[in-house]
Amino acid sequence: MTVLLLAGTAEGRHIAAAMAGEKIDGHASIAGVTEDPAELALPTRVGGFGGAEGFEAFLDDRAIRAVVDATHPFAARITGRTAAICAARGMPYLHVLRHPWTEEEGDDWIHVASVEEAVLAIPAGACVFLSTGRQTLTEFAGLEGRRVICRVIDPPREPFPFEGGEYVIGRPSRHVEDEAALLSALGVDVIITKNSGGPGRGKLDAARGLGLDVVMIARPPVPQADRVATPAEALDWIRAL
Ligand SMILES: NC(=O)c1ccc[n+]([C@@H]2O[C@H](COP(=O)([O-])OP(=O)(O)OC[C@H]3O[C@@H](n4cnc5c(N)ncnc54)[C@H](OP(=O)(O)O)[C@@H]3O)[C@@H](O)[C@H]2O)c1
Repeated sequence: MTVLLLAGTAEGRHIAAAMAGEKIDGHASIAGVTEDPAELALPTRVGGFGGAEGFEAFLDDRAIRAVVDATHPFAARITGRTAAICAARGMPYLHVLRHPWTEEEGDDWIHVASVEEAVLAIPAGACVFLSTGRQTLTEFAGLEGRRVICRVIDPPREPFPFEGGEYVIGRPSRHVEDEAALLSALGVDVIITKNSGGPGRGKLDAARGLGLDVVMIARPPVPQADRVATPAEALDWIRAL
């Protein structure tokens, strides 16, 4: 029984390590969007499959019998496509989706459903911290004219795609003090973030402490599928195959 693990998250890394540790036959796959991805404990292919056809060819070539999808909560295309293909083939498919962040006492987030709504929620003259990543940056072009700071993991190769923007390079910290120091030093008024969930909550707790506004972009819809929230539950599902 060979399992394909769609990785690209911390959960994917943990599942790969556990599968390797238990000698479960598997391949991992990452999109290759970051320059220096953490190594996975399973044989790993890097880069897109080349669309649905390429993905199906990979399933056939490698005699894949089940797919565990531990991609990011906002990676809606790969999740929707994979769930549909597996359903059509009658192939076991598991979606590993971590819990979203929820408001804690003292939080007063502005909830929006899309990037467009997030842009509309920003007052004129505000200094905006974008923790939504480089891939979707052009979608925020409506913020032109505000001071916009986008946090990116890899040093950018291209200039900021619109006037008034700048990059800050670094990974999100889970430590509220680090995030508070960064946001204060940059003079941020409002944070726009996707509701990714997981350890990157430090910025949200820092925002609460500093009295900054938080615009929270809701997750995209998920397909009907088997779903768990943690690597441990995913491992149980794999063992039961
Ligand atoms: N979206 C985010 O905010 C975010 C944040 C952190 C990490 N990530 C990770 O980055 C990857 C890309 O995210 P995205 O938002 O661009 O996803 P997406 O829009 O759902 O997927 C776009 C394309 O990327 C390829 N792809 C995505 N995940 C893959 C994987 N694990 N293995 C092989 N190909 C993959 C597929 O290309 P083909 O059609 O060519 O197969 C897919 O059609 C995901 O694996 C995700 O977990 C995303």
